[in-house]
Amino acid sequence: MSYNRVIVSSFGGPEVLKYVQGKELPEPGQREVRIKVTAVSACFTDTMVRKGIYFGMKEKPPFSPGYDMVGIIDKTGPDTSLFKIGDKVADLTVTGSYTEYICLPESSLTSVPEDIEDGEAVSMVLSYMTAYQMLTRVANVKAGQTILVHGAGGAVGTALLQIATVMGVKVYGTGSSSKQKLITDLGAVSIDYKNESISDRILKMEPEGIDAVFDAIGGESFKTSFKLLKKGGILVPYGFYKNSTGQGGNVALEFMQLKLWNILPNGKKVDFYSIGDMRKNNPAWFKEDLGKLFDLLKERKITPVIAERLTLKDAEKAHRLIDSASVKGRIILQVG
Ligand SMILES: NC(=O)c1ccc[n+]([C@@H]2O[C@H](COP(=O)([O-])OP(=O)(O)OC[C@H]3O[C@@H](n4cnc5c(N)ncnc54)[C@H](OP(=O)(O)O)[C@@H]3O)[C@@H](O)[C@H]2O)c1
Repeated sequence: MSYNRVIVSSFGGPEVLKYVQGKELPEPGQREVRIKVTAVSACFTDTMVRKGIYFGMKEKPPFSPGYDMVGIIDKTGPDTSLFKIGDKVADLTVTGSYTEYICLPESSLTSVPEDIEDGEAVSMVLSYMTAYQMLTRVANVKAGQTILVHGAGGAVGTALLQIATVMGVKVYGTGSSSKQKLITDLGAVSIDYKNESISDRILKMEPEGIDAVFDAIGGESFKTSFKLLKKGGILVPYGFYKNSTGQGGNVALEFMQLKLWNILPNGKKVDFYSIGDMRKNNPAWFKEDLGKLFDLLKERKITPVIAERLTLKDAEKAHRLIDSASVKGRIILQVG
C-alpha cells in the first residue's frame, strides 16, 4: 500500500519541501510500532532542519522533517507489549513526522487521552513541553513572581504565557505590533520591541528587576535579558532566533558568553534549556510532564493558540508563513 509524505529534497528555502509518494508502508522492527499519523506541528525548528542548520542533526536529504506527532497505532512489531492497535499516542520525533505513516520504538511513546483533539494534543509535545519544563524544571518559577518572555506571540511564547498565567505568575511579553493584542489577551503586559525600549518599560514598572527571563532571540537580546534580572534571578536561553534567521550573531561565542555570565559573582544565573538534552537526561520527566500538560488541556486551563490548520500538502506554505514571522501561535498540519 502506498502512502504520502513530505521530504526535504535538498537543504534550502520552503520550495525544497516536496510532497511525495512512498511505494510500500514502512514495517515496524523489533520493539517498534507503526503509527498512522493524524497531526504534526509545523514549527520554527523544522525550518532550521529544512535549512540544514539545526545543531546536531545527522540527516542528509532526502528525508522527512517533523519534530512531533500524534497518531493511532495501526501495527505492532515483534516483542512489543506496551500498546495495542488503535491506541492514540504522541512522540517527539525531531525529524520524520511529516508523513502518513511512521515506525517508532514503543518505549518512546506517550498515551494521548481519547477525548483530546489531535491538533491540540500535538501542540503539547514540543512547544508546551518546552515552556512547561523551562518554567518548572529549570527556572522553578513560583506564584507571585515576575517573568519576561521574548517572542511572546510565537508557538513557545504563547505556551509560556498561558502556563505562567495558570501558575499565578506576572508576565511581560515582547512581540511586534501584530502580536500585541494576542499577548495582552493571554494575560501578559505586552511590549512592542520594534517601537519601544524593553529595558525602559521593564525598569519603569519593575525597578528591582525580573525573576526569570525566557529568551530564544540571542545576540543583544541576551545582554538586555541578563541586565533586567533581579539578584537571584535566572536567564533561560533556549535558542538563537536571530542567528537562525540570518540576522547575524555567532552562536559559539554567545554560548561561551552565557557560560561566563553564569560564573559571575552577581547572584544571577543562566541555564540553557534544550528539550532534547532534558529528555535524554530525564526520560521519565518527559512522559510525566506530557501527562500533566494533557491534564491541563482536558481541564481547559490551557488552550493552544492555533493560527492555521493545514495539510501535509501545504508544508511549503506553512514554512513560508513561519519564515515570515507572521504566525500567531502555531500551525498544525492535519494528516490523512
Ligand atoms: N531549546 C529548545 O528545546 C527549543 C524548543 C522549541 C523551540 N526552540 C527555539 O525557540 C525559538 C522560538 O520557537 P517558536 O516555535 O516559538 O518560534 P515562532 O513560533 O516562529 O516564534 C518566534 C517569535 O519570535 C518573534 N520575534 C522575532 N524576533 C524577535 C525579537 N527580536 N524580539 C522579540 N520577539 C521576536 C517573532 O514574531 P514577531 O517578531 O512578529 O513578534 C515570532 O513570533 C526558536 O529559536 C526555536 O528554535 C528551542
